[in-house]
Amino acid sequence: MNDAIEQVLFSEKEMEEMITRIARDVDRDYADKKLVLLCILKGSVVFMGELMKKLDVPCEIDFMKVSSYGAGTTSSGNINISLDITRPDLDTCDILVVEDIIDSGRTLSYLTKYLLNKGAKSVKTCTMLDKPSRRVVDFKADYVGSEIEDLFVVGYGLDYAERYRDLPYVGVLKPEVYGG
Ligand code: IMP
Ligand code: MG
Repeated sequence: MNDAIEQVLFSEKEMEEMITRIARDVDRDYADKKLVLLCILKGSVVFMGELMKKLDVPCEIDFMKVSSYGAGTTSSGNINISLDITRPDLDTCDILVVEDIIDSGRTLSYLTKYLLNKGAKSVKTCTMLDKPSRRVVDFKADYVGSEIEDLFVVGYGLDYAERYRDLPYVGVLKPEVYGG
């Protein structure tokens, strides 16, 4: 285990089981749709890579880069789009937004409206992890890997100051890593 990790919340095997379960639900719901998985960079890259490998339904992929966080562990409250989805066929696409974790809910609440406004045929959301106790805006994802308590987690794409995204599990950082 990485020296900076205090506790493993979801092992590599547990992540695989979680993602297999989500893939079966998506297969069931998108059988006759034009599924476009929309990866929210950078945190969702590992989750989406694993999810797409497990899907049986055909899918296309696309990317957006959206941030509501600065360098630390608190949300700024502002949503900044630095890479947008640009496709002329958006009105025929059933978009499934793939997110790493929901905290305040601001990012996905904003993005869902943004994509519908932009003309997407349908928009649903899928998150690896969810911290319902942290909500600032009312938002519920359509597919949720697992709910967690109010803990700052890293790994499987999730970072602290751009580090630890490469860990193959989801873990809680040791307090001293935060500079304490
Ligand atoms: P929201 O808009 O407040 O829901 O913010 C969601 C975003 O905050 C996620 O996409 C992450 O980038 C970041 N975030 C929230 N909680 C964590 C965490 O525990 N670890 C790493 N990033 C987090
Ligand atoms: Mg993120």
